Amino acid sequence: MNEDTNKAPLTEPERQMYFIEGCRKILEEQGVLGEGKTPVYHISTFGCQMNFRDSEKLAGVLESIGYRPVDSEKADLVLYNTCTVRENASTRVYGRIGYVGKIKKENNPSMIIGICGCMMQEPDEVEKMKKSYSFIDIIFGTHNSYKIAELLYTLLMNRKAKEKKPSLKTRVIDVQKEATGIVEDLPVKYDSSFRAGVNIMYGCDNFCTYCIVPYVRGRERSRRSCDIIREVEELAKKGVKEIMLLGQNVNSYGKGLDEKISFAELLDKLATIKGLQRLRFMTSHPKDLSDDLIKVMAKHKTICRHIHLPLQSGSSRLLKRMNRHYTKEDFLSIVKKLRDAMPDITITTDIIVGFPGETEEDFSETLDVCETVSFDSAFTFIYSKRTGTPAATFDDQVPENVVKERFDRLLNVVARCSATNASRLVGTEKEVLVETEGRDPGTDEQKQEIELTGRLGNNLLVHFEGSKDLIGEIVKVKIEECKDFYYIGKLI
Ligand code: SAH
Ligand code: SF4
Ligand code: F3S
Repeated sequence: MNEDTNKAPLTEPERQMYFIEGCRKILEEQGVLGEGKTPVYHISTFGCQMNFRDSEKLAGVLESIGYRPVDSEKADLVLYNTCTVRENASTRVYGRIGYVGKIKKENNPSMIIGICGCMMQEPDEVEKMKKSYSFIDIIFGTHNSYKIAELLYTLLMNRKAKEKKPSLKTRVIDVQKEATGIVEDLPVKYDSSFRAGVNIMYGCDNFCTYCIVPYVRGRERSRRSCDIIREVEELAKKGVKEIMLLGQNVNSYGKGLDEKISFAELLDKLATIKGLQRLRFMTSHPKDLSDDLIKVMAKHKTICRHIHLPLQSGSSRLLKRMNRHYTKEDFLSIVKKLRDAMPDITITTDIIVGFPGETEEDFSETLDVCETVSFDSAFTFIYSKRTGTPAATFDDQVPENVVKERFDRLLNVVARCSATNASRLVGTEKEVLVETEGRDPGTDEQKQEIELTGRLGNNLLVHFEGSKDLIGEIVKVKIEECKDFYYIGKLI
């Protein structure tokens, strides 16, 4: 530790603000920042919305230092924010790292490469990175990603010291096993000016037997409601129209806080914040979905008529083995209550096929729930064995060919149900938040009317012609045609 590091405040966020300044000074000394020069960064994010939100925070700090974003890995600083929920998520990360290593070697040896996120909370993965990827400069985990400025500062100082003593190792590795409190108020860069994600809690205590998340994201911690309310108020004031509240299990929000507050109560307070037009949340665990939550949803027009309610399996026997704490009947009864209270609600889900011990009978229960509920869409996953989870040691893993065949059957049912549901909206008029220019904005730059893409309250997309100025606004659109997973509409 050098003298300047010793001077750093011990409290957060002051400590990180100190290192932001420190990094800035070193980059200026190096002549890469200031006097018309700007270093560029690229963050590649894998996994769920929690990770995307973390990347916005990483970007906020990097931009405060003076970095600017670029779309490709040909950058001065590249960060990989990793996911490990299924094996293919990890495989994709390795592919990218190989690619960036080549860029560094061939084009820019002084490039800084960092890797963080859920994969780095697994000791074996960190070992692998250390051993096989010597070009990686910074390794950190999910619990200390707020420390990016400090870690970068340490690396820059190490590199400076190496100039005098070439044998020095510069790499910075800092992975914390457990989370230590929640750090608020560091700079954030929001990806969109009209939609934003807001964390309401971190971690997960549910330990579903297939799932790695509780091991890599730590124990459940809720943010204080006053901090959440303040953040949502500030975003609404800035013109953000739609907010997505984020947590692995939002329905257990409030547990462990000094104040007595449930998710339903929090949502009730947030729904009336001035200027906010749409409120969503993700993810709801069926076991904690309360009647109060349904009441609050039904009471406020601002709360989107959409719920993501992961089923995982329709077999009560397997649900028990998955440690999900609900039965097939419980799930169906929640769906009924939701639809009784909000007949137009869309329900989406996650389903795992091929969980250890899944029999044809278990699988047919899953198909049965899909037919009965008729989900508006479903993310379907082939079970992936995650080292360290209880299910990885179950000895009745399902053969690959059986899983594939079931997976295809499930996809068919899911696709048929979502297409049938989606077609019901044709002919109606709906409010749409205009998000982007559509896939084909056309070649004529003078053209006033371009294809826009917007999102309905039910989360489905609609394409329609309109002016670019409408991006970020909520407009009325007549739904004219249904293309199974999206719509074609006309601006009213
Ligand atoms: N907290 C959320 C889900 C987070 S992970 C919830 O409980 O609903 C997102 C989805 O990935 C899960 O819903 C599950 O369907 C899937 N998933 C998690 N672990 C998996 C594994 N080992 N194999 C296959 N799918 C998995
Ligand atoms: Fe994983 Fe279950 Fe927690 Fe969701 S609730 S993150 S599936 S352990
Ligand atoms: Fe992946 Fe971590 Fe999210 S493992 S799904 S990025 S919590």
